[in-house]
Amino acid sequence: MSDAREIRANLVLSQLDEHSPYGGVVPEIAARAHLEHLDGLVAAALREAGLGFEDLNGVAATLGPGLIGGVLVGAMTGKAIAAARGLPFVAVNHLEGHALTARLTDGLEFPYLLLLVSGGHCQLLAVERVGRYRRYGGTIDDAVGEAFDKTAKLLGLGYPGGPAVERAAAVGDPARFALPRPMKGRPGCDFSFSGLKTAVRSRVEKLGALSPQDRDDLAAGFQAAVAEVLADRTTAALQRFAAETGRPGPLVVAGGVAANAGIRARLAQVAEMAGTRLVAPPARLCTDNAAMIAWAGLERLRLGQRDPLSARARPRWPLDELSPPAGAHRESAA
Ligand code: KG4
Ligand code: ZN
Repeated sequence: MSDAREIRANLVLSQLDEHSPYGGVVPEIAARAHLEHLDGLVAAALREAGLGFEDLNGVAATLGPGLIGGVLVGAMTGKAIAAARGLPFVAVNHLEGHALTARLTDGLEFPYLLLLVSGGHCQLLAVERVGRYRRYGGTIDDAVGEAFDKTAKLLGLGYPGGPAVERAAAVGDPARFALPRPMKGRPGCDFSFSGLKTAVRSRVEKLGALSPQDRDDLAAGFQAAVAEVLADRTTAALQRFAAETGRPGPLVVAGGVAANAGIRARLAQVAEMAGTRLVAPPARLCTDNAAMIAWAGLERLRLGQRDPLSARARPRWPLDELSPPAGAHRESAA
């Protein structure tokens, strides 16, 4: 892809202060915060970009999957702008935003193998073109980000769990506690994380009061186990990808957990072993953000997609149920 790509504004409003007393995201609070802040955030983004509504060619908003209250507020806001300005509206699957981010950041061509690791998802997919995702495997229980969040809670590290576990792991000894590597070496590309979380819990119970050292060592052991499982499953997926496409990669990692430096480093080794490279977006574009939704919307808009304002928000919307925009077949290699 040779097109110039530039992020003019990408504002993220963190609601962490509102949610942290509860140790997790509270759906009601999330929906209300979206309602209170979104108009101001859109205005601030336009200001930062130096643009007015009259400069826009289209409006993209995510319609899911995700906590439905916040998704509805975003969808209504996007649709209202499109309607008021007579602009095309594009409904974006939030997972597709993660899946296509490497094309925004690195201009990556199709196909590639995607490891999508977020708070709600853990999947390996072959990305063939916009809207065409073939699933190789996924988690049979917890998502990997969920495992980070639950482990953080068990260790008293607070919310959000991922970054807190990563910080503790950086100073801990990963070898002190022998934790399981669920699904390692199994045929196929599925994952499981609930056994690992249970193993952390039983260690915590056995130790009783955790010293800072215990906490850091458990975090390090947990993160090492996750990294090893991800590496093993991704190696299997790269073999399948190579057999099917005749190419060794590239490998892309996306989603909130892709912000983890230890996991990125391990995946870079996996890619190298397979004779390919790892493409990992900068951390701020791994966790949920507006730029990835705008980019997926732009890709679809360019391929001719226009969605009706009646398009519905969806709490559940698997990536492999998407289809390419109608009439997009000519551009499959774009
Ligand atoms: O993609 P994302 O922002 O939202 C979802 O779509 O779920 O991912 C959020 C998840 C959370 O579970 C969070 O703990 C995890 O990503 N996460 C991390 C890190 N930063 C965020 N996990 C491990 N290490 C990190 N540095
Ligand atoms: Zn996400």
